[in-house]
Amino acid sequence: SGRTTVRDIRAAKERGEKWAMLTSYDVLSAGIFDEVGIPVLLVGDSAANTVYGYETTVPITVDEMIPLVQAVVRGASNAMVVADLPFGSYQSSPQQALETAARFLKEGGAQAVKLEGGARVLPQVEALVAAGVPVVGHLGLTPQSVHTLGGYRVQGRDRAGDVLLADALGLQEAGAFAVVLEVVPADLAARVTKELTISTVGIGAGADCDAQVLVWQDMAGLSGGQAPRFVKRFAELRTALADAAAAYSDEVSRGVYPTVEHSY
Ligand code: KIV
Ligand code: NA
Repeated sequence: SGRTTVRDIRAAKERGEKWAMLTSYDVLSAGIFDEVGIPVLLVGDSAANTVYGYETTVPITVDEMIPLVQAVVRGASNAMVVADLPFGSYQSSPQQALETAARFLKEGGAQAVKLEGGARVLPQVEALVAAGVPVVGHLGLTPQSVHTLGGYRVQGRDRAGDVLLADALGLQEAGAFAVVLEVVPADLAARVTKELTISTVGIGAGADCDAQVLVWQDMAGLSGGQAPRFVKRFAELRTALADAAAAYSDEVSRGVYPTVEHSY
């Protein structure tokens, strides 16, 4: 039946059907998420953290992201694959945004792109949409602006909520088909979701968004360290993988593995 399209996303909002997005950065996770019917996979610039080990998402480059997008596209046959435009690859001008997006679609094989920001990126969104590139916006806690925001904290409280709503309406007007709302008060996300005809995708934005998104390693309990409040671990892959690696190591050192069954 082909991949999820922007029309499918629009239809889900009209029917009031909630759906789940996950990040993916490799062929195996993409194949698994695709098989269970996750309709949209995001090759997030969170790959900076989850794949490359950077402290923030600021350093990751387009060249570092393209191979990950290619792997996810190869691994998933039904999901729409959305690629994040990394920091510095779209802010300069609509032309720069279009050149970067073209690389993600032509080389990467993505079907859509996501970029961070409100009013300041509307010319970019308009240029992409005019060129035929589906766009997802991203408001609230926008990690590429961590140095301006002064840390990873809740956004859109009080008067800033009105600015966020105006930015969301601006993104919709500019042609975005969805907008991620990251770490904002649940009542603000509910208000934005009600006002917009395009889909809201929440992460730490309460239960009333049209969709939800999580970094897959957080969702599956593979990540270590202190997780933000909005994360729910639906499995404990970190423990499972550590136990498996320790058991393997132990059996090899004791001469228990491999046996004749594993030999030729
Ligand atoms: O990079 C990312 O993973 C994201 C999502 C968390 C929304 O932007
Ligand atoms: Na991102």
